[in-house]
Amino acid sequence: MAQKKILLTGGLGYIGSHIIASMEDPSLVVIADNCSNCDIEQIDRLKQLVALERHQVYLVDCTDLNAFEVIFKENEIDTVIHLAGLKAVGESVAKPIEYYTNNLNATLNVLTLCDRYHVNRLIFSSSATVYGPQVSPMNESMTLLKTTNPYAETKAISERMIEDYCVVHPEMAATSLRYFNPVGAHPSGIIGEFPKGIPNNLLPYVQQVASGKRPWLNVFGNDYETSDGTPIRDYIHVLDLASAHLCVLKSPQAGYRIYNVGTGVGTSVLGLVHAFEDANQLTIKTKITDRRSGDVAESTADVSKIKKELGWVSHYTIQDICKDAWNFEQKHSK
Ligand SMILES: NC(=O)c1ccc[n+]([C@@H]2O[C@H](COP(=O)([O-])OP(=O)(O)OC[C@H]3O[C@@H](n4cnc5c(N)ncnc54)[C@H](O)[C@@H]3O)[C@@H](O)[C@H]2O)c1
Repeated sequence: MAQKKILLTGGLGYIGSHIIASMEDPSLVVIADNCSNCDIEQIDRLKQLVALERHQVYLVDCTDLNAFEVIFKENEIDTVIHLAGLKAVGESVAKPIEYYTNNLNATLNVLTLCDRYHVNRLIFSSSATVYGPQVSPMNESMTLLKTTNPYAETKAISERMIEDYCVVHPEMAATSLRYFNPVGAHPSGIIGEFPKGIPNNLLPYVQQVASGKRPWLNVFGNDYETSDGTPIRDYIHVLDLASAHLCVLKSPQAGYRIYNVGTGVGTSVLGLVHAFEDANQLTIKTKITDRRSGDVAESTADVSKIKKELGWVSHYTIQDICKDAWNFEQKHSK
């Protein structure tokens, strides 16, 4: 009998590659990625960390149903971890149709093929942005407020599509993981986040200031109602995030579940900058500028549900995050 496989859509990306690097048996992995936000060399980087074969990687677009279906024909897929999607909030405001087309069609096709090939386990990469402008800490039973950008809306709609699918497929064990702020890199420095162009996220930007690629960091507003006036976020090491997926894989349970994945601890923008300076013994030049539209003062997770139900907790500290991020940057910034 053919071995049961775990399909990671978007598996060559930042989070997917860390999940693969954390797996006990990477030979069970199949990857679907169109390389729209990664490069093909990511396969070689992963091969330095785990025993991955080239035939496990399909360069396909998940929005192309026929091309995507080949994976299900050629492999006995048991589980899908659906990470594929466009993810830049600002870009989604400028290109809403691209975001809706890519992210929603990819999720629709995942569900269509799960139905067609009787795949009964699904983990979806959702986001804290689905909560809308809620008060922190946010918990899974909160009513979602109106999302503030098309990216967040694609995540909210995808969650709803999966939930509706589960109603008519009671055998399906589906979990949406609402990631807060994934950061850091594999301690080897071989994989991490490779932003294309100007980084959208804070830590990759800080890394590039540290390496001299960018002259300073713009801090968007220091007049928020927080301890130092800068916005607070819940930063989670990407390997902690990966371990949450492995934890869900170990406890399949029919029905639809939602979990926040964060640390439950907030760190301000300047707090993260200072932690990076302390952990790596260097100085980051900052400039305070105007607030950026759409930013909220605080976004942190209530992580009690995933702890209580799955026993999952985060382990890495902000210092670990900063050290691993800088180690990665130094290896790749030439
Ligand atoms: N990184 C974050 O801060 C964050 C936070 C919350 C949620 N998420 C979600 O987690 C998932 C993974 O994020 P990431 O940080 O690894 O992003 P990433 O861009 O590094 O990885 C996503 C991968 O999906 C691929 N992809 C995109 N559209 C595709 C398509 N139609 N067909 C096949 N492949 C496609 C890209 O090439 C990329 O390799 C995304 O869905 C993202 O929205 C990320």
